[in-house]
Amino acid sequence: MHQLINNFADKGEMLARPLSELYENIRDFFVIRQGERVVACAALHISWSDLAEIRSVAVAEDTQKQGYGSKLVEACLKEAKALGIPVVFCFTYQPEFFQKRGFVNVDKMELPRKVWTDCFRCPKFPNCDEVALIYRAEVMAKSG
Ligand SMILES: CC(C)(COP(=O)(O)OP(=O)(O)OC[C@H]1O[C@@H](n2cnc3c(N)ncnc32)[C@H](O)[C@@H]1OP(=O)(O)O)[C@@H](O)C(=O)NCCC(=O)NCCS
Repeated sequence: MHQLINNFADKGEMLARPLSELYENIRDFFVIRQGERVVACAALHISWSDLAEIRSVAVAEDTQKQGYGSKLVEACLKEAKALGIPVVFCFTYQPEFFQKRGFVNVDKMELPRKVWTDCFRCPKFPNCDEVALIYRAEVMAKSG
């Protein structure tokens, strides 16, 4: 996963993730493997009771356009729904990929301030050039 994500990060296509951060958030990840090789990954990171982020969606170049990216995004959205989280956001350089999967563009400033705690650690802060999108899921209202 580290290699997969940081190969794209080196080319400026997504944010780099240090190994320590991957371990700290390892339980956020879905992966697709071919034998022992991890060919695709994506993470659902919970930000708040009603908000989560899809991050680090990466599919190895030689296995792209086979539906892996879509499957991983679906898995993240399904988990968000199961957890009762109605809004999932992402920051990306590939907005069309997410738009085709039900996400809509949103002004970054409309996202709750909680989101910015991660942004402060980003090397690009405050000059973020990624596009922010959100997906609104229909979830059952929580009781209590
Ligand atoms: C963006 C990215 C995650 C897409 O992954 P992917 O596995 O290629 O995605 P999918 O295969 O699900 O879909 C990609 C396209 O291939 C098409 N496709 C899927 N299966 C296919 C098949 N069997 N034959 C032909 N085309 C196919 C899909 O229709 C889709 O086209 P669309 O977006 O116009 O609908 C991948 O290109 C990637 O890792 N890019 C670098 C990192 C990055 O930019 N990540 C973005 C999030 S930060």
